[in-house]
Amino acid sequence: MNNKLVLETVNNLESAFAGESMANRKYLYFAKQCRKLGAIEIAEVFEKTAEQETAHAHGHLELLFPPKTLTIENMLQMAIDGETHEYTEMYPNFRHTALQEQNSSAVKEFDEQIEESKEHAQTFNTLLTKAAKKFGALTKVEERHANRYQDTLNNIKKG
Ligand SMILES: [Fe+2]
Ligand SMILES: [Fe+2]
Repeated sequence: MNNKLVLETVNNLESAFAGESMANRKYLYFAKQCRKLGAIEIAEVFEKTAEQETAHAHGHLELLFPPKTLTIENMLQMAIDGETHEYTEMYPNFRHTALQEQNSSAVKEFDEQIEESKEHAQTFNTLLTKAAKKFGALTKVEERHANRYQDTLNNIKKG
């Protein structure tokens, strides 16, 4: 397999996953607004379509994170990494820009998200500590599989 093609496909799967995920949340939000406006049937179509978008997003995830490569620990770790990125880098940067642009409602929103992401990271971290104690011995082999998968991905990304 051509590495460049593999890399591009991984990126495309990530973009497709992002798009389908956003469509899911957007349609649920639209459904909520439609209900407020009394358009119940349209709301129901948005809700039904949102469910299908979730299925599409999960389809992409199965290729990006094959179930065989997932362990309790590496799933919790990925969640911690994502939440940590949010509260240490992404939202602080967004907050900085919002301040410069004097968008006070965005500053407030980002501050709230910084707190929530921190809480989420802590919750996952507590679970990881517990899981490491409980499943530690059992998942050594799976962990090795997951690491090998990660190495392969990294090599692909390096080209
Ligand atoms: Fe879709
Ligand atoms: Fe979060």
